[in-house]
Amino acid sequence: MIPVPTLHITLLVTHLARQEQVDLAAAALAQAEPSLAELLGGAELALPFSGVAHFRNDVVFVALAPGPHRKALHSLAELLCGRLEERGLLEGDARGFEPHLTIMKLSRAPKLRSQGIKRVDPSLYSNYTSRFFGEQTVERLDLCSMLKKKQQDGYYHTETSLQLDLTQHPLHRKRSSGHRRSEPDEAELLRISKRLVEDAVSRAVQQYKQETLQNGGGPNAGQPPGNADGDAAMKTTDANAATDSGK
Ligand code: C5P
Repeated sequence: MIPVPTLHITLLVTHLARQEQVDLAAAALAQAEPSLAELLGGAELALPFSGVAHFRNDVVFVALAPGPHRKALHSLAELLCGRLEERGLLEGDARGFEPHLTIMKLSRAPKLRSQGIKRVDPSLYSNYTSRFFGEQTVERLDLCSMLKKKQQDGYYHTETSLQLDLTQHPLHRKRSSGHRRSEPDEAELLRISKRLVEDAVSRAVQQYKQETLQNGGGPNAGQPPGNADGDAAMKTTDANAATDSGK
């Protein structure tokens, strides 16, 4: 029912009656950037999603897994609420913040409603109530209109967006849990491993040539070189092991 590009977490809902208020809200979002980066302490906010639940049986959503990210997301929503409130732009939504990722809602299916279907049958999603759906990093905050015509991909009309580029923050860390995402490390490890292997092979070949020359094609001439070569072979094996573990 909900197209994937439109998946979102609503941080707050308010009523902005005039364009002037929309502009003020957009400015408030832009001005909140340093405080948001400060709040996240330069760490990416990764949100793990697991389980399926519902509101009044007519909205079905994937739930946010428990953990410290919930507090961070709550603080983020609170900060934005505060910024709008102090400008007199927070009106309406009295509901508490309940982060959720809506995947079905009957308001999206007028046909079903006209057939008298008032609730989503829980058996449709009962197999997924404890399913882990994956993790998504918060990358962008949008100021969206719920009433204006939706974008072509089905997402809400977006008045303005704030890209959360935490790489510019002095305390930048890749993950909120403190451990770095593995891709750059793996690539680095692979490069080092390759270089070690190439060095070791080239030194072994070099030494093999030297020994062959020194022995004048003697008894060891056709044998692999001695100790130094063993070292090199071991280094090669070590490097390969590092390559393997880096995969
Ligand atoms: O935020 P989102 O657009 O995904 O919300 C989908 C629907 O869920 C809303 O239209 C609202 O009616 C409902 N909702 C609710 N209780 C909440 C949050 C949202 O009933 N705490």
